[in-house]
Amino acid sequence: MPLPAEDHAYFLALQTRTGWGRTLARFVAWSLPPAPTRILDVGTGPALAPALAAQAGHFAVGLDSDAAMLAQRLHPPGVQAVAEALPFPDGAFGLTLAANVLYLLDTPLPALREMARVTAPGGRVAVLNPSERMSVAAATALADERGLSGLARETLLNLAARAEARYRWSAADLGALFARAGLRLRATRLAMGPGLLRWAWGTRSW
Ligand SMILES: C[S@@+](CC[C@H](N)C(=O)[O-])C[C@H]1O[C@@H](n2cnc3c(N)ncnc32)[C@H](O)[C@@H]1O
Repeated sequence: MPLPAEDHAYFLALQTRTGWGRTLARFVAWSLPPAPTRILDVGTGPALAPALAAQAGHFAVGLDSDAAMLAQRLHPPGVQAVAEALPFPDGAFGLTLAANVLYLLDTPLPALREMARVTAPGGRVAVLNPSERMSVAAATALADERGLSGLARETLLNLAARAEARYRWSAADLGALFARAGLRLRATRLAMGPGLLRWAWGTRSW
């Protein structure tokens, strides 16, 4: 079966009509610092994560390279720009996050360095990516176990195929990547079934 085109409607359906929205909500809740702060969501798609952060009392901005993604976003403040050149001053945010984005990039380090730059000292950089346990076989087993069909199944298998072709990060891998970006890994956990995703957050080491 061909994969659906990954346009705005696709990601909006993914964020609002599948379990992905709940996964994103749990990741955002896990990443959030306690006090209200300024939040940047890099590669936001239709901006569910900023909408959730705003509901929790934070000021949140979504950023995406694709203007069409931002056209009908779920949360108003939106910026079109690329992760590798964030149009913000140093230390502008208390939390900079990227969910399901970094592992898709050919070279994730420039984007992660930019995320570190725009994060305030003591602030957090949080990322959600496939873990070392992600594979097409593992994703297929989870989809079967949960009886997933349609969009939910297709997107999980699509994510797994891309992860196999790109990046799947263990805690050690991410710790090393964070260090190269000037970040210290502070917390990481596995999520989704047997741990097919890895959430992580760190702080600036300078
Ligand atoms: C797989 S979607 C993830 C959307 C959302 N974060 C989520 O978890 O539902 C990846 C998003 O990142 C955006 N993107 C890809 N490369 C980017 C880059 N270099 N800079 C900014 N956004 C980028 C895409 O346009 C797309 O909206």
